[in-house]
Amino acid sequence: MRHSTMAERMAGSGSDKWQLHWLAQQRSADGHDVLMLTIGEPDFPAPKHVIDTAIASLHAGRTGYTSGRGEGGILDAIVDKFTHHYGRPITREQVIVVSGTQNGLSIAMYGTVDPDDDVLVPDPYYATYEGVIQAAGGTIVPVRLDPDEAFHLNVDVLRNRVTPASRVLLLNTPHNPTGATLRLDEIEAIAEVCVEHDLWVVADEVYADHTYDGVPAPSMLDVPGMAERSIVTGSLSKSHAMPGFRTGWMVASEETVNALLPVAESMLFGTQPFLQDAAAAALRDDMTITKNMRETFRRRAEVMCRMIDGVGPVRAPMPEAGMFVMADVRATGMTGQAFAKQLLEATNVGVMPGESFGRGGSGHIRISMTVADDIVTEAARRIADFASGLD
Ligand SMILES: Cc1ncc(COP(=O)(O)O)c(C=O)c1O
Repeated sequence: MRHSTMAERMAGSGSDKWQLHWLAQQRSADGHDVLMLTIGEPDFPAPKHVIDTAIASLHAGRTGYTSGRGEGGILDAIVDKFTHHYGRPITREQVIVVSGTQNGLSIAMYGTVDPDDDVLVPDPYYATYEGVIQAAGGTIVPVRLDPDEAFHLNVDVLRNRVTPASRVLLLNTPHNPTGATLRLDEIEAIAEVCVEHDLWVVADEVYADHTYDGVPAPSMLDVPGMAERSIVTGSLSKSHAMPGFRTGWMVASEETVNALLPVAESMLFGTQPFLQDAAAAALRDDMTITKNMRETFRRRAEVMCRMIDGVGPVRAPMPEAGMFVMADVRATGMTGQAFAKQLLEATNVGVMPGESFGRGGSGHIRISMTVADDIVTEAARRIADFASGLD
């Protein structure tokens, strides 16, 4: 049987990106002492009060269908979070509850991109972006982020990449894999380009609360007038170590929410009520878990950077946010892929090649800080050993 052109277009998309992760897993299964610093899933349990709420909610019979937009409890919790925690006042009519940022990104792309539209994506970028753009029929147009500018989006480079086919800028700040966190003045300059060229901004803010100083990262919603062309999506996956709860939000203008709601409903027909109750409890807590995580990730990143930065040809600047260290191995003359593979074979440390996140990640490796402190320290020691042998 013949599948759709969309399914064919997406065939195999992305799986090669994780090749190093599978190799590391295989090595571990073969009995090697492999330290896995590849994927970025918080090594913290979801908060107990959130789990208790989910269980109580299940026992209370909250197992039916819900509204496609989300129920009152979670909608109010999202509105309060945006209004009071972020200082970006919104109304219930501006929110759709979705199954995580990934789902929010898909809905946003289906709602803004027509076949053959271009989507501008700062490169390197999160590994699933190609898929969500391709599924919607769009074409990804990478906009290079310069490692020598700390991977901050350069507005002139962005402007040069805009063509009449450009429809959307997919902006991720704080950024995976680099941790780059745009300042408000940078976001304002980017907003100007988007207004000039009538672009949508799909803003992936899943790491908004993972800044190391605890101040939420600036957003397109902080720029007057940008709410009407922005779709912000985020979730509790990173802020509350709840990726398996698959619960997040989209925030946009009322008009855009009304346009996107049928798209969301066609996929989900509403998310699980017991998960909405649990998520509402998380949204209203004092964010102790978020604080603990960001302090832990920062401490680990400091250890990693201190131990490997400047060893042989490796450079490892301290990230600005998030849970990864993006180390620069360009001076070795190797690709990130070759470095990561040799590192794994020589030292049993698994890291992601920068190329897994687009050409903009070339010559880099992404090291995840989501493993215990002693593993980070031991991995740093092995990476330093390997790097010193490369001089
Ligand atoms: C940049 C970025 N966006 C989106 C996601 C997916 O988040 P969620 O679990 O909310 O779907 C991730 C997960 O790693 C991510 O790093």
